[in-house]
Order: sequence, then C-alpha cells, then structure tokens
Amino acid sequence: MEKKKILDTSWDFREDDTKISNHGFHSYPAMMIPQVARRLIETYGSEAEVLCDPFMGTGTSILEAKLHPNFRVAYGIDINPLARLVAKVKTTPIPYGILSQFANLVMDRCDEEIANMKKADIDLPDFNNIEYWFKPQVIRDLAIIQRTIESVDCPDPRIREDIKDFLLVSFSETVRLASNTRNGEFKLYRMAPEALKKHHPKTSSIFREKTAANLERMQAFEREAGACSIHILNEDTRERTSIPDRSVDIIVTSPPYGDSFTTVAYGQFSRLSLEWLGFDSKEVRKIDKISLGGIPAPDLSTSLESPLLSSTIRKIGSIDPKRAKEVLSFYLDFNLCVEEIDRFMKPGGYLCFVVGNRTVKKQQIPTDDIIVELFQAQADYLHEKTIVRNIPNKRMPKANSPTNVKGELSSTMNHEYIVILQKQ
Ligand SMILES: C[S@@+](CC[C@H](N)C(=O)[O-])C[C@H]1O[C@@H](n2cnc3c(N)ncnc32)[C@H](O)[C@@H]1O
Repeated sequence: MEKKKILDTSWDFREDDTKISNHGFHSYPAMMIPQVARRLIETYGSEAEVLCDPFMGTGTSILEAKLHPNFRVAYGIDINPLARLVAKVKTTPIPYGILSQFANLVMDRCDEEIANMKKADIDLPDFNNIEYWFKPQVIRDLAIIQRTIESVDCPDPRIREDIKDFLLVSFSETVRLASNTRNGEFKLYRMAPEALKKHHPKTSSIFREKTAANLERMQAFEREAGACSIHILNEDTRERTSIPDRSVDIIVTSPPYGDSFTTVAYGQFSRLSLEWLGFDSKEVRKIDKISLGGIPAPDLSTSLESPLLSSTIRKIGSIDPKRAKEVLSFYLDFNLCVEEIDRFMKPGGYLCFVVGNRTVKKQQIPTDDIIVELFQAQADYLHEKTIVRNIPNKRMPKANSPTNVKGELSSTMNHEYIVILQKQ
C-alpha cells in the first residue's frame, strides 16, 4: 500500500481562503476545506451526476456539488440536527431581494427591542444550566432575537421557512459567541472566573455582524448555484438509508476520526445552539453517544476483515483493554457504514475519504489503510491511491493527549490522508 501513498503539497492550499462562497456560514469542528472537495470532484467526478456525503457535517461537499454544473442530485447524511440545519441553509438559494428585506427588518427590530425591553416583557427559555452558560443580559437578548426571527411573516410559506432557517444559523453562531464558553474549543468549558468578569458580549451586534456577512454570501450564491437537487437526510449511515441501490457516482466525505468522547465532540459543540433552537435536551445530550463508536464494544472478541486493525487492537489491548474496546467499537460502526455505502455505490464510481490517523496509547492507527482493507473485504474495490496532505488550516486540535495523561502531548494530526477507491 505504501507505493500508492504520495505526499503532495499541492493539496495543502496554504494560501487559499477556506471561507469562500457559503462555506464560511457557521463554524463546526473538523470541517473539510472546500478546495479539497472541489479538486476531488473535478478529478474523480468529471462524469458524475450523483454525489453523496455519508458524514455530511455542515455540508462542504454537497455545497460544492451545488456549485458545480454537472450534478443532478447530492445526498448528505448526518445524525446531528445542527449540522443538517447549517447544510440546508448553505445549499438553499433564497431570492435575494426578499431575503435582505426580511433580514434587515429583523436586525433593526432586534436592536430596537433590545434597547427598549424591560425584563418582565419577555418569556425566557429554561433549560438545564442555562444560567451557568449565559449571563442574564445575554439570555434576555437572545430570547428577543429568537422571538423576532419567529415573527417573520413572508406570505410564501416555503420562503418564510427558508428565511427563518437562514436567520437561525446566524442566531446559532451568536449563541456560541455570546455564551460563557471558552471559544475556540470543541468541548464545553466555561471561561475562567477572571475572563468571565470581563465578558460583556454585545449580543445584537454579534447577530447583526453574522447576519450581514451571510447575507452578502447569499447574494453571490443566488447567481452561482446550479440546478443540483439537495437531499439532506436525517438518517444514520450505519443503517439502511433511503438512497437507492447502486445510484451514487461519487462520495466525497470526511468521517469522524474516532469516537466523539476521545476525539471531536460534535454533540457538545452543538449543544447550546440546539437547546436554544428548542431541541429536546435529552436527545441533544445523546448525540455523542449515537455517533460512530459512541458505545464501547462489550469485549475484544469481534474482529473485522482487516489485518491492520486486528494488529492495532491487539497492541492497544495489551496496554489498556478498555481503550482497545473503545477503538474497536468505532471501527465496528464504521464497517456497518462500509456495508451501506457499498449498497448504494454505482460500479465504476469513486469514493474519496479524507481521514486522520490518530494515536492511542502511542500506537498510530492507520485508518487510511484500514479503510482500504474494509472496502476490499466487502467487494471488489480498486485502491487508486492515497494522497497525503499537510493540515495548515483545518479546525482541529493539532496536539492531543493520546495516552490520556496530562502533559504527554503528541502531534498526531499534522497530516491528512485522502483515500481514493473505485468500485469495480
Ligand atoms: C468530520 S465531520 C464532517 C465535517 C464535514 N465534512 C464538514 O465540512 O462540515 C463528521 C460528521 O459525521 C457525523 N456522524 C457521526 N456518526 C454518524 C452516523 N452514524 N451517520 C451519519 N453521520 C454521522 C457527525 O455528526 C459529524 O457531523
């Protein structure tokens, strides 16, 4: 496999703006950079009409399909409702004249109401620990913004929903930025007491700034968007999805790197936004558990048809059997996705997986090569090549603590591997 692995710095895109078009709408952990998705589509999808991203996140790949003239259909699957909301808004053009009229009205009304409102005038939401995560003034301001978004009364019901969703995405970013969390972290940590004392966010200005920037993007997007029909699926890639058999020409995706508890906590990152958006607290708190590898394997007896995975699990298991079970559970879940992807992939189609090889207990896990073995065990897949790129700008923790011992840091994620397979 080594011969097919090539370090190619032309995939680094060091100088490129990763927030082009609607890609800069809302932050999310471990986003794929649009330049990588675009080049994969151009290289391996020149004949493709149907794209799928089985771990869509906030929709980098499906947005690129929407911007490309070839595509008829793009499917995006994700278990996280915040990711689905952001992906929907990023890929849905709205007539700009109407959108800007309502967005400006909402921004002005929010400023006015926040300036005039007395405490008694507004119903405040009440979810667990809300006062721990937000200052009282911020809770009040956010409640006013949310109520104002709800009052949008565009007569066309479909456009009304699209406008509200558009505004809810900048509201969600405002929730995160105005909260008492330490920004720049994926997990929910509260600011240190000293920083908290100085924290007096201007909630309505944050909302205005985010909305204005996204409006500008939407104006250009209305002209750039192609005819591709976008299907955002509230489904789980481990199970049978609604995508028809042998219908997908190309997959461009970046799956999670491991279970959410020890790698990237998508659920925790999304929690405050989702609680404000009215999702059930209990469901929101389950997101990390229902992500790949969220429930550790009961023992180490199950094995998959990947010799590399088996030897890695053996090595980790000899040091720490509990960690080995957590790692194994991620690959058991991932293999269920491999089975499902194989069902809907068209023969001749290309699969592009952008992955990181993390380190657990000082063992680097070769996820790129494991993916090749798992697909080849499933059916006839040609391993075209694996491109290795440096990660200059992905929003990822570069150093983690692979032994879970504080202070033992190792720089595990400086490279990303783009695995290209073709179904025969
Ligand atoms: C690395 S992120 C994708 C980021 C995306 N490429 C972007 O640019 O925003 C991986 C995503 O996989 C999702 N995911 C985890 N388990 C899943 C499952 N069983 N089915 C579908 N999506 C899942 C997570 O919610 C997360 O959004």
